[in-house]
Amino acid sequence: MKAINVGIIGVSGYTGLELLKMLINHPIFTLTYCANTEGETTICELHPALFGVSDLAVEKVDLDHAARECELIFLALPHKTAMQTAKGLLERGVKIVDLSADYRLTQENYEAFYCEHEDVENLEHAVYSIPELHGKSAMGARLIANPGCHVTASLLALAPFLEHIDLTHPIFIDSKTGVSGAGKSPSASAHYVSVNDNINCYNIIKHRHAIEIEQHASLLCSGDVHVTFVPSLVPMTRGMLACVYATLKLDVDPLSVMEEFYKNRPFVRVRTAPPHTKMTSGTNFADVYAACDGNALVAICAIDNLMRGASSQAVVNANMMMGLPEEMGIPKIAYIP
Ligand SMILES: NC(=O)c1ccc[n+]([C@@H]2O[C@H](COP(=O)([O-])OP(=O)(O)OC[C@H]3O[C@@H](n4cnc5c(N)ncnc54)[C@H](OP(=O)(O)O)[C@@H]3O)[C@@H](O)[C@H]2O)c1
Repeated sequence: MKAINVGIIGVSGYTGLELLKMLINHPIFTLTYCANTEGETTICELHPALFGVSDLAVEKVDLDHAARECELIFLALPHKTAMQTAKGLLERGVKIVDLSADYRLTQENYEAFYCEHEDVENLEHAVYSIPELHGKSAMGARLIANPGCHVTASLLALAPFLEHIDLTHPIFIDSKTGVSGAGKSPSASAHYVSVNDNINCYNIIKHRHAIEIEQHASLLCSGDVHVTFVPSLVPMTRGMLACVYATLKLDVDPLSVMEEFYKNRPFVRVRTAPPHTKMTSGTNFADVYAACDGNALVAICAIDNLMRGASSQAVVNANMMMGLPEEMGIPKIAYIP
């Protein structure tokens, strides 16, 4: 198979580093372009752990150069910067997988929670893709809106039950994230002293991922899904655990529902006991589990926020866009212990 040249913009960040690790070893994607804010450096200067592995140059973003070098580019950028960059690259014929929130929501929802949308034209054809829930929709897409981490974990837990739960009853989602979810820039709330030996909720109910869960869960069931979303920050580097609580309207065996729903899906493992984030660490696996107490349902999903919640799901989507096997170049062995 012919090599496909790809690039990463935002290569110095946490999700950029995870993309790097996969793309360096990918059998078809060849990394030919890397950029960050200032450029004039190399991969191993930015990420000393990769010393002796890659000395690729990292430049300041230059859309013409990026478009000459690459057929597809991963954007691991903050929202707003991502759409400004994507717009110029799409005009130049480059395919995009965007890890930010810029193309995940309707214009109305986006503008209510983020800022004015600056690329409405491309928003209209962007494809939102969690492969197990959106089938082959990524195939042939020009622009992928890669889903958010809390949303991926929450929807993978919730989706199998959308037809079995009473949507008029509250759906609560309690989702815990490791600190890398906040990106690499230091802040008071992500400071070691704030995070270590501590757990706290943040942005409860009004977190931006709540609207993303609602929009996409509603589309999946053609209903009106409302969720009460409570994220928490926990003292670990990576990992995410979403617990969904809802009311069943039918008498079902929750694990059988999950097993049937995720039958033959290589990256969702239906566990027979509540999942651990660590078993998914460094992989694209989503480990799911469910149980009920009468009609009270608990559905759980563990993922690695940087991988299934961002970079490995992005590479799976890129594989599908380019007609490659979903599993190509995607890590399956967790960082254990
Ligand atoms: N972290 C997660 O778990 C996670 C999960 C899902 C989705 N996401 C989304 O993925 C995106 C990246 O997240 P992250 O955690 O990797 O962030 P991060 O660690 O803060 O990295 C951000 C990257 O963007 C680059 N950048 C910022 N402004 C730029 C500009 N104007 N031109 C070029 N490069 C620029 C930074 O370069 P410099 O080093 O030069 O500043 C850095 O490489 C965000 O939209 C985030 O919401 C993150």
